[in-house]
Amino acid sequence: MDFDIKNVDLAPGGRHRIEWAEQEMAVLRGIRETFGSERPFAGVRVGATMHVTTETANLMVALQAGGADVVLSASNPLSTQDDVAAALVSYYEIPVYAIKGEDTPTYHKHINAVLDHKPHIIMDDGADLVSTLHKSRREVMGNVIGGTEETTTGIVRLRAMAADGALEFPMMAVNDAMTKHLFDNRYGTGQSTMDGIIRATNFLIAGRTVVVGGYGWCSRGIAMRAKGLGANVIVTEIDPLKALEAVMDGFRVMPMMKAAVEGDIFVTATGDISVVDRHHIEVMKDGAVVANSGHFDVEINKVALRELSVDEPKRVRPFVEQFTLKTGKKINLLGEGRLINLAAAEGHPAAVMDMSFAGQAMAAKYLLDNKGKLENRVYTVPAEVDQQIASIKLASMGIQIDTLTEQQVKYLNSWEEGT
Ligand code: ADE
Repeated sequence: MDFDIKNVDLAPGGRHRIEWAEQEMAVLRGIRETFGSERPFAGVRVGATMHVTTETANLMVALQAGGADVVLSASNPLSTQDDVAAALVSYYEIPVYAIKGEDTPTYHKHINAVLDHKPHIIMDDGADLVSTLHKSRREVMGNVIGGTEETTTGIVRLRAMAADGALEFPMMAVNDAMTKHLFDNRYGTGQSTMDGIIRATNFLIAGRTVVVGGYGWCSRGIAMRAKGLGANVIVTEIDPLKALEAVMDGFRVMPMMKAAVEGDIFVTATGDISVVDRHHIEVMKDGAVVANSGHFDVEINKVALRELSVDEPKRVRPFVEQFTLKTGKKINLLGEGRLINLAAAEGHPAAVMDMSFAGQAMAAKYLLDNKGKLENRVYTVPAEVDQQIASIKLASMGIQIDTLTEQQVKYLNSWEEGT
């Protein structure tokens, strides 16, 4: 079996951690059991480019239980858990192409290795796999039934492709499911981002000013958790509605240029470029920390940071590069400006990835069930899937809810009743 990972000897530790995560993934476990008896993916090749974590491992194992022939590469050069990659290769016989800290050519070589497998189903996180396939590996296109996309950034790219008429197979926007973005983006990103910042710096958050770039689902999770840790939180936005929500949620809102002067820690999660730009860096406090939790490492202008510095940054802790500016000020960049929650911590906890990856598994099955019937555009996950995932998750947490009485159903369906 071909693969490219850091070290197979890391496999035993990886297996323990995969099994640990599995205990938290009740919805995915149920799906794996159903897939195991129904084998819907028999003869189907799945090519995935996703963060290689214990949670992703459980998704791959569920697909494999359903009969799929699975291959996996990393969706970010810094997010791979090398012990998990080793365990997938050694114990589950899943070819993995991912090494934490791989350079950009290796990252792309690994994506191409997934495409060499001629997948029928694509699983993407950030749309690099889909985009590589369309741009330079078109000979693989004929095999593809469709794909699933995990993240907001990927869906933005896919919708742009669809609008251009460039998308050549249907894609399921898993991120747009309620059971994904309301939970994974908010509670997952919120907790894991603060976890990453704390693991990287060992800073006390209480009493510090944390500037959060954006107020989408990810950023609001970060703002909420930073506040919970005692930070004074400032939010920056470009959308008046989101800015208003941030204000009414109790946060200070101001332009980044003003926040830049006040912040101790900056975190971006907007999906756009240069949210922390040269002119912001120039006015930051000595010792300021800048981190990103958005999908790509474009949100902090790293080129400007380098240009403003006297020489190469000093690596002062494993995920902290300290830049000394020509003015003498020091600015600390975390995790090379890449997803800090996956670079310095372990990504979102399994209990929340359970719902996201249940959505992935069910979306992949939906593509198979509807083979040949879908158009080449971006589809949302059916609402029943959301209801089903939420119900199973609640049951796994031992939480019961009410059901409508007949009288209530009748009331909701009538238009005659009123004052
Ligand atoms: N994205 C964020 N957290 C993740 C995790 N734990 N596994 C896979 N993808 C993720």
